[in-house]
Amino acid sequence: MNVILLFIALPLIVLACDIKTTLKFNPTIKSGFARFKFFNETYGPVFEYREGENNLPQVFYMKGLFCSLKPTILETYEKDPRSGDIKPTKTSQAFLEGFGKIEYQIGDMHTPYVAAKVGVICGFGDCGNSRG
Ligand SMILES: *[C@@H]1O[C@H](CO)[C@@H](O)[C@H](O)[C@H]1NC(C)=O
Repeated sequence: MNVILLFIALPLIVLACDIKTTLKFNPTIKSGFARFKFFNETYGPVFEYREGENNLPQVFYMKGLFCSLKPTILETYEKDPRSGDIKPTKTSQAFLEGFGKIEYQIGDMHTPYVAAKVGVICGFGDCGNSRG
């Protein structure tokens, strides 16, 4: 009985996410824009970052079920993506699942990457150097 319950409950626990997401900006960054495309195929807000300014970290939560069916993508742009059909300059994408935190950073040349993560299952993509 308990074993059966465990096998029913386990996939439900794993195939969901609640991830505190922080987006940070390298101090030597050139001006640009960043935007997430989430696993539910909607876009998050456009974050603008400026060269020579103190670009404050942005914090938000990604929540849902079956988060790893589709990738989570962080896109950077040199021009405002709201101003037309503009292609991303760089992207970082991975399939995310689980309960924890992830920290993205935008480095030089508008390159986004995963700087840290805790408790987040990440696969098939840019998952940073830290595992787990
Ligand atoms: C898609 O997922 C993001 C991150 O969890 C959330 O902020 C947004 O509201 C979701 N959009 C829809 C339409 O569910």
